[in-house]
This record gives sequence, structure tokens and C-alpha cells, in this order.
Amino acid sequence: MGVSLKFEGRDVISIKDFSREEIDYILKIGQAMESIAVKGSDMLRGRILATLFFEPSTRTRLSFEAAMHKLGGSAIGFAEAEIASVKKGENLADTVRVVENYADVIALRHPLEGAARLAAEFAKVPIINGGSGAEEHPTQALLDLYTIMKEKGEIDGLKIALIGDLRYGRTVHSLAYALSLYNIELYLVSPESLKMRREVLQTIKERISVTEKTDLEKIVPLVDVLYVTRIQKERFPDPAEYAKVKGSHKIDLETLSKAKEDLIILHPLPRVDEIAAEVDNTSHARYFQQVWNGIVVRMGLLALILGAVK
Ligand code: CP
Repeated sequence: MGVSLKFEGRDVISIKDFSREEIDYILKIGQAMESIAVKGSDMLRGRILATLFFEPSTRTRLSFEAAMHKLGGSAIGFAEAEIASVKKGENLADTVRVVENYADVIALRHPLEGAARLAAEFAKVPIINGGSGAEEHPTQALLDLYTIMKEKGEIDGLKIALIGDLRYGRTVHSLAYALSLYNIELYLVSPESLKMRREVLQTIKERISVTEKTDLEKIVPLVDVLYVTRIQKERFPDPAEYAKVKGSHKIDLETLSKAKEDLIILHPLPRVDEIAAEVDNTSHARYFQQVWNGIVVRMGLLALILGAVK
């Protein structure tokens, strides 16, 4: 590394706040956590993570908590706003100013875009964005990059397609920004009404080759990585609009008949019906391996932010 990188005490709000060099370093530390995740460590003994999740989650919250436990630390928090004092009218700024007394770092998921940034302005401890509305999900992007690197050896030189809900899907916004730091060709495949957010597109097009398509068939044979996403039903302002695009893309054995032999399929999960169960046992499926990678990357990130690893 040419310059010294500083992670201790840092917020993780947007993947855009990180350079390629910093991202590569986080992935490297994630890799070093693979064996530690199996045997355990006490490098974060006495340190506390608070998970404040105002939206449902299985992977992000549990993997952050598991990551903390595997490093010898502990985790507190809530998984729904209904049981927190937010229900009594407490605002987010007050909530984080209270929780910073109990925890060394806060992982926050919130339905509002900008919520993590706002929380970071008020909190004295680092805030990690675990998903802010349809805006971003930076730690998911880190584990997605890690999965691609682990499976393919390197990210540079690949052809990668992001498929599905590119408008409301926060994981694809963070991932597109992150991938634009690498030398890749990006294909964006979605129904017309769910095309990639224009501000994301504008930024990434300045750095890499981007092709937008509505038809998946011609893209599948070209690419090395298919990143499939769920249509985010809960974010549609109009249920009639969701009905128009529901089930608009599905990866099954027939879709994959012309795919490269070494194509890998990723999905941030949860999936609904966009990847058929018959794909799970093919050599292409990597979405359950991705879940494990979420642990090691989040272990690395916590160790860096809390200063246990430089
Ligand atoms: N990938 C992801 O964010 O999953 P959860 O919603 O279960 O955290």
C-alpha cells in the first residue's frame, strides 16, 4: 500500500466514501478473517456493537452480531422499531446519542435515505450503514466484491451483469459504485420502469463501460457474473406498478443453457422467485457462499473500525 490507510473510528455510510485502495485493503483483511472466523479470537474483547434495525433483516444484522461474537466482543440492539423508544416518539438523533453510551460502534438499518448520514452527524461512535432505504447498502457491496474476488481470483477484466430491480434495490447502487473502481464491463438488465438510478448511472459511466438492456437472453452468454436481485415490492409507491413488473425476470436452467461454464450467480438474498430452486445445485450458484463471506468481511470491517487491526 502506497499511503497509510486510516479506518479506526471511521463511519461507513456510502461506498462512495472509500477508494479502491481502501476497499482492496478491507477485502484483504476479510480474507485474513477466514481462519479466525472458524477458530475465534478475543481481539474485540470488551467492545460492544449495537445493531439498530428499523427494517427487517436476517443476514445483515445477524452477521454483524455473529462477526462481533467471533472476535470476542458482544452485541446489543433491537430488530424492530416497535419495541424501541422510537415508538414513543424518540427521534433518530436522540436514539444514537443515547446508544453511543452503551456501544463502541453502531450498525443502523433505516427505511429513510440519508438516515445513516444523519445518525453519523450526531453519534460520537462510528455508524455503519446496514441499509438506508433504497439508497445504499455499502457492507453488502463489500461482501459482494469479496465473493467475486474469492471465486474468480480478481475483479478486473470481468463482465458483470446486475439484474432485476435497479431502481429500488440498494445493494445494486452500492455495488455499481464499487465496481466502477475496477476495470470491468457492466451490464444492467431490468424492466424499463426499474432501470438504474440516473445519478448512479451518470457516475459509473464516467469510469467504466456500461450497457443497459431490458432483455436478459442476450446478456447471459456474455458474462462471468450474474448478480440477481429481488424486485423490492415494499418500496413501490403504487401496488399497480409492482404488479406490472412482478416476475419479470427468472433465472432457471433454461436461462442458463447458453451461459459460460464458469459463470457464477450471486444474489444478496432474500430471493422470492427470481432464481428457480433448480439452479441451487448447479456449479453456477454462489449465493449461499456469499452469506459466509458476509461474516468474514464484517469481521474485518469491525476490527479495522475499532482499531484492533491497522
Ligand atoms: N442482503 C441483505 O441485506 O439481507 P437482509 O435484508 O436479510 O439483511
